[in-house]
Amino acid sequence: MKAVSVILLYFAVAVVCSHDHFDSSPSCGYRAPDVAAIQAMAHRERHLQASTPSPRALFRCEACRGGSRFRTIDTYIHVIQMMNRTGHLPDAVLEESIQVTNELLLSTGFQLKVVSTKRITNDVWYLSESQSDEEMDMGHQLKQGGLDTLNIYYKAAIVDGDRVCGYANLADDAVYWPEDDGVVIDMRCATNKTILAHEFGHWMNLLHTFDGGCFPGDLVDDTNGQAMPMRYLSDECPDPLPDTCPDAGFDPLDNIMDYAPSGCGDIFTPGQVQRMQNAWRNIRRA
Ligand SMILES: *[C@@H]1O[C@H](CO)[C@@H](O)[C@H](O)[C@H]1NC(C)=O
Ligand SMILES: *[C@@H]1O[C@H](CO)[C@@H](O)[C@H](O)[C@H]1NC(C)=O
Ligand SMILES: [Zn+2]
Repeated sequence: MKAVSVILLYFAVAVVCSHDHFDSSPSCGYRAPDVAAIQAMAHRERHLQASTPSPRALFRCEACRGGSRFRTIDTYIHVIQMMNRTGHLPDAVLEESIQVTNELLLSTGFQLKVVSTKRITNDVWYLSESQSDEEMDMGHQLKQGGLDTLNIYYKAAIVDGDRVCGYANLADDAVYWPEDDGVVIDMRCATNKTILAHEFGHWMNLLHTFDGGCFPGDLVDDTNGQAMPMRYLSDECPDPLPDTCPDAGFDPLDNIMDYAPSGCGDIFTPGQVQRMQNAWRNIRRA
């Protein structure tokens, strides 16, 4: 199953990551499904919706335990560092990252609750590539909880030889590879405002706003079509905004699931929130 999926996803990964060298433009290296795979996802999801009696309401502000308005997700942080302390991150950086991420997640109904933060010294794990045997060994030894538990690994994030800012697997894939389920953040991006919220979005089944191009797109109705990511070296939002798909409005550069810097805004749309909550109900908490 895994080998087949990796081959299926390879083309899209090559496109997404080919210009992701850290020094020029650090970015996300998650394995985006290709257009055929996204079309298959769309088909499956339409089927699932048709067989669900009535659309379920968003769960913010309702039915959450303990009087909380939010669904809290148990979160385990693993900081991998090298023998010479490369990769060491102070507690303050980790705490700030969770706090900033929880602010970005306010609109989603989810909040991260850190259960433990562990520091591990292991040069091989620190330098392990995405989906390598070494990284799987790390996951098998460190991972806590089931599909409803978030494991965050801080280390060097390397995908196909490129150093990236982070990556994660989709909830859909976690079903097949539960032992590898989690989010990896490169220690050099630990202070990036949006990276953890962005990878959490993938973990909750969100695609990039530009995955799937103009059609079928990202399987979310209220994000404008976007043919490709646009990256800016400055934090200023371009004016006018680019518009890379016909009849779809401006590219959603304010979206957390795009690569644009924070200057354009950092939002999830209601459609993305619904998709995340569906992933929680149908996959992660199921
Ligand atoms: C630690 O080791 C790595 C890999 O050999 C090296 O790239 C890095 O510069 C070293 N860091 C320090 C502080 O010596
Ligand atoms: C911060 O993370 C985002 C992903 O959310 C990425 O697109 C961006 O390039 C990163 N910026 C820096 C300066 O690392
Ligand atoms: Zn991404």
